[in-house]
Amino acid sequence: MSITINQPLDMHLHLRDEAMLKTVAPLSSHSFSGAIIMPNLVPPVSTKEELLAYKERIIHACGSDTFTPYMTLFFKPTYTKAFLESIKDELTAIKLYPAGITTNSEGGVSGFEVETLRETLEAMSELEIPLCIHGETNGFVMDREAEFVSIYEMLATNFPKLKIIMEHITTKESVEALDKFENLYATITLHHLLITLDDVAGGMLQPHLFCKPIAKRPEDREALRKVALNAHPKVMFGSDSAPHPQHAKESCGCAAGVFTAPIALQVLTELFMEHSTLKNLQAFVSDHAKAIYNHIKVPHKTVTLEKKPFVVPAKYDNVIPMYAGETLAYSILEIKG
Ligand code: DOR
Ligand code: ZN
Repeated sequence: MSITINQPLDMHLHLRDEAMLKTVAPLSSHSFSGAIIMPNLVPPVSTKEELLAYKERIIHACGSDTFTPYMTLFFKPTYTKAFLESIKDELTAIKLYPAGITTNSEGGVSGFEVETLRETLEAMSELEIPLCIHGETNGFVMDREAEFVSIYEMLATNFPKLKIIMEHITTKESVEALDKFENLYATITLHHLLITLDDVAGGMLQPHLFCKPIAKRPEDREALRKVALNAHPKVMFGSDSAPHPQHAKESCGCAAGVFTAPIALQVLTELFMEHSTLKNLQAFVSDHAKAIYNHIKVPHKTVTLEKKPFVVPAKYDNVIPMYAGETLAYSILEIKG
């Protein structure tokens, strides 16, 4: 039996730059129709010139693949309405990082006072630019996301017309927040559907599974699985595939990020199949994203998978993927478009 996915979308992706971009971009552009591209380069993408130049470099790295990079800016509370109007047609969303919370986020937001954020967030609401948020406080690592829910609620209440995407949610508290506020949505990664903290640190430390937000408890994973596998309409797939060179992961001071781009569709297929929810995979990896980001144009592409062993390469250049060297149950058979 084969499974065909129409227009797969990855709504949260790190492609980096230079040599790393050349290594990883084709691994997404091969099997996805498009992806929301994260802006946390050094320096972060925060001007129109930087955004357009980065988009060009991505398109070049994707070669002849049919793939749309949906560009984002790195949120700053100093963005004016005039600036956002001038860049609106070039971007799909703006990504907000709390300062210092993860890789290359030092220039992020250091306080969440409504009045400091009001001008930019009202302009975004009026211009219908979604706000993607890395929702973690600087509290205890296991509690950071749950603590951030009150900030999501404050933003959702004060800016009711703003579409707010809770990125890479990992907790049952975030899942619960989804149904409380009409303007809250979420992405869920592959790795957070699969692992808990036990897989990262319960035995020998697994640096290639270390990421932010850190994987949580079994009941949190259960809450994520429930909404992803049952096609909750406010939930969409965003891999947060975040490559780092091997030396930066296997080191004293491991960089956060799990590299899943080359295995995402194969493993999602297996997961949905195992739970007898394959009929909902299309919604999770494409249809909900199209409905939530209702302005995007999605290029035509179909990806057909079949039950056939796929041995995950040990490395892609100097990047180690999740499940490196292991055999997956599903392979990509054909890509059209
Ligand atoms: O694990 C992570 N890696 N989480 C993030 O939020 C950022 C990402 C990265 O850029 O490496
Ligand atoms: Zn990310």
